[in-house]
Amino acid sequence: MARSPFTSSTRDVPIVSAVPRHIAIIMDGNGRWARKRFLPRVAGHGRGVEALRTTIRGCIERGVSYLTLFAFSSENWRRPADEVSFLMQLFMRSLQKEVDRLHENGIRFRVIGDLSRFDPALVELIRRAEALTAGNERLTLTVAANYGGRWDIMQAINGLLAKFPDRRGDFTEDELSAELALNYGPEPDLFIRTGGEQRISNFLLWQLAYSELYFTDTLWPDFDDAALGHAIQSYQSRERRFGRTSEQLRETEKRVSASSADGVPENHA
Ligand code: IPE
Ligand code: IPE
Ligand code: MG
Repeated sequence: MARSPFTSSTRDVPIVSAVPRHIAIIMDGNGRWARKRFLPRVAGHGRGVEALRTTIRGCIERGVSYLTLFAFSSENWRRPADEVSFLMQLFMRSLQKEVDRLHENGIRFRVIGDLSRFDPALVELIRRAEALTAGNERLTLTVAANYGGRWDIMQAINGLLAKFPDRRGDFTEDELSAELALNYGPEPDLFIRTGGEQRISNFLLWQLAYSELYFTDTLWPDFDDAALGHAIQSYQSRERRFGRTSEQLRETEKRVSASSADGVPENHA
């Protein structure tokens, strides 16, 4: 059974770097941004795409390796039909327009979520963009579309049961992680939610177990490079203990800096 190559934060202490390796964002507040300007809600979604470009650039410049964005939740089908259809069209148009630029910039593009309800033309576009950019290594950009954390855990369990019909009840964390939609990346170091709400809204439930959470009132279309910088600064001020005490953490840091002065690499765990 293929194990995920990434550390599970509840099983081992991951290596922590100053720049988050993986940032996951709930891009919220587009509708309110538009309403404040007496514009239709969908105008906010259009502006949201611009904020997205700024954030991708900011992540590349800072050396972030994985960026995962919540674009459409499994619950967003409950919205008015014309808004849902606008969002689908926007996804399609943005992808058509941007895919070459993503590729030129060394971005690996992936989509996670249940695509079975999507227009086959959009699914085809997604698959082609994923194939084109599969070999890129600068940044892995994942868009979560018709994604739900509970859907993800259930499809992983069902996947395991289908693969191993004779096994019951003895699956491990690693085996489950390897079946999750985002099995090709580490758990997010930093989770950002714009728009003022302080909730997870069924995003990456499994992987957010030990992520640093950052909530800002800034509405997504206003989330600029400085706002991204503030989120990362806040992340850098956190003490990521993973269950240990502050004293243990300081001891480990001392050991690591002593061994790296000797030129001997040492794992933070
Ligand atoms: C987030 O903005 C974008 C999507 C959910 C697609 P919203 O559309 O939720 O904006 P608010 O929360 O209504 O302001
Ligand atoms: C969460 O935003 C999903 C996305 C940003 C795509 P919502 O605005 O739909 O979340 P809730 O329903 O207010 O929690
Ligand atoms: Mg919202």
